Amino acid sequence: MSDTIHPVPDQWAKSALIDEAGYHEKYRQSVIDPDTFWRREAQRIDWIRPFETVKDTSFDEQDFRIRWFEGGTLNLAANCLDRHLETRGDQVAIIWEPDNPSSPGRSITYTQLHQDVCRFANLLKSQGVAKGDRVTIYLPMVPEAAVAMLACARIGAIHSIVFAGFSPDALAGRIEDCQSNIVLTADQGLRGGKTIPLKANVDAALEKVAVDTVIMLRHTGADVPMVDGRDIDWAEAASGQSAECPPEPMDAEDPLFILYTSGSTGKPKGVLHTTGGYSVWVSMTHEYVFDYQPNADGSMPVYWCAADVGWVTGHSYVVYGPLMNGATTVMFEGVPNFPDFSRFWQVIDKHRVEIFYAAPTALRALMREGDDYVTRTSRKSLRLLGSVGEPINPEAWEWYHRVIGERRCPIVDTWWQTETGGAMISPLPGAIALKPGSATLPMFGVQPALVDGEGKELQGAAEGALVILDSWPGQMRTVYGDHERFFQTYFSTFPGHYFTGDGCRRDEDGYYWITGRIDDVINVSGHRMGTAEVESALVAHPDVAEAAVVGMPHDVKGQGIYAYVTPNAGVEGSAELRAELVQWVRKEIGPIATPDVVQFAPALPKTRSGKIMRRILRKIAENELGNLGDTSTLADPGVVDDLIANRPA
Ligand code: PRX
Repeated sequence: MSDTIHPVPDQWAKSALIDEAGYHEKYRQSVIDPDTFWRREAQRIDWIRPFETVKDTSFDEQDFRIRWFEGGTLNLAANCLDRHLETRGDQVAIIWEPDNPSSPGRSITYTQLHQDVCRFANLLKSQGVAKGDRVTIYLPMVPEAAVAMLACARIGAIHSIVFAGFSPDALAGRIEDCQSNIVLTADQGLRGGKTIPLKANVDAALEKVAVDTVIMLRHTGADVPMVDGRDIDWAEAASGQSAECPPEPMDAEDPLFILYTSGSTGKPKGVLHTTGGYSVWVSMTHEYVFDYQPNADGSMPVYWCAADVGWVTGHSYVVYGPLMNGATTVMFEGVPNFPDFSRFWQVIDKHRVEIFYAAPTALRALMREGDDYVTRTSRKSLRLLGSVGEPINPEAWEWYHRVIGERRCPIVDTWWQTETGGAMISPLPGAIALKPGSATLPMFGVQPALVDGEGKELQGAAEGALVILDSWPGQMRTVYGDHERFFQTYFSTFPGHYFTGDGCRRDEDGYYWITGRIDDVINVSGHRMGTAEVESALVAHPDVAEAAVVGMPHDVKGQGIYAYVTPNAGVEGSAELRAELVQWVRKEIGPIATPDVVQFAPALPKTRSGKIMRRILRKIAENELGNLGDTSTLADPGVVDDLIANRPA
């Protein structure tokens, strides 16, 4: 916790789109008269047919519904591309920075991007992809990932991007869940000088679930087998297509994309976002949070969000938000520590990046390596910094501010979720004084509240579960194929409210401080992971009888994965088995799910009714052994002594 306050720099207060008074006035309007507020904000979108109603929403079980801008039609790809052609056709839309700094990068103008998207959209159509069909995208961070997304949006197909670090099994599960019949991939991905066998992973996934078509981009040029009648070469097939493709008029509530994310129970859920509300929300938040406006000379600031398109941050703030706002957006294929720990800052100098947005885990990893890697670069182009994905500890915040931004750049710490589409609680750089570690105040239209365990709303300075009282345009609309699960997951814990899954504190100034997940979701390096997913991967191993997974504090990752494993009778919990289980989880889910600690346990602490007492497992993982709480309801309290005695150092 930090008491430091960083006031809005004078220059920002004068030049930003929104100043302090403006924020409070606009916020007030947005909650007392959402109709007028959103009617005006929605003008940022080119509607094909204007909407009739702004908002028709209720979180109550009886008449539960979330509908925005009904009656309106629009096309998001046209809003990202076509409408810019006249004024900024020659402006660079995407700067692509490859993994290896000595490989050639690419700069793609709005005109070129428009053509690439139209060609690829026509290719999808020629493969029978129609409005409403699901298209699975499993691509590295290359411009074609944006082309694929925009091409889907153009023809009304629903994209489902699967992060290229996920395993064949995870990919197969996601293809199956949304019944997608086409996969877009590349021969290989490249990260930190290492190749990722994307096409081979797709082939492995397709042994479990069949699709008709695979379109493969040749990226590294590796020799990969192609399946006759199923696999198509991207460049070859796209080059023969017309560069004109009329954008499909989409209803505001037509689905735009599915993105799988982890919850506290079961398989990952397909979070579904729709077209109209998402577009308004993402364009608005991108503009205000990053104060995205032309420079004095009329040029557009170079903006870099270092997230992967496989996560929601990449959807909203690498591709859709920036392109709707006519930005020059950087897409980075690589990692922060390759070829060395200066890479981020070198890329900033190379492309004269003005706005930089990244996850705290990357900053903490770089901070450990010392300031030299930073100070040998200039970074003078930087004006604004952003943080996303997990709580940023005040120490990392101060380092980001002092060393990276040389005290001149405000930091926007943006709290949001896959489910929320865009930033929900965040400073606006010209309006809100910063407190390191606090996401500060709500975005327009967002009404956060804190509730206690019984759902009673807490007033003033307080700490509790973070809920949102009313709908906002970028809210997810359903869990794909399981509307009941949508309601149960988010609206049944605290009836009438959207439950975020996060704990939060509000201070005497009304600032919000996210304290982290309070459900069985953990946040590993800014990646969301359901403990249940890791458990089910572990118990799928033939030597494992039972497993329980909890988060543990981790200096760089924020949280690490701590797994308690009970081997089958007669199986010894050996070092070999431990190493094998770690590999097993990597293979089942992907490297991001690698357990940090595997502790073998003859038994897990359970209540008399057989429920695993995770609270105790969390305390042991956190090494808070003096504070285990009430253990009297345990069926066998001796189990806990054994866990403590055998805790790995
Ligand atoms: O716990 C919160 C944390 O990340 C969760 C959402 O994860 P995901 O859906 O993968 O989206 C991440 C990118 C938006 C939240 O429930 N989280 C995200 N941003 C912050 C954060 N926690 C604290 N501060 C943030 N700025």
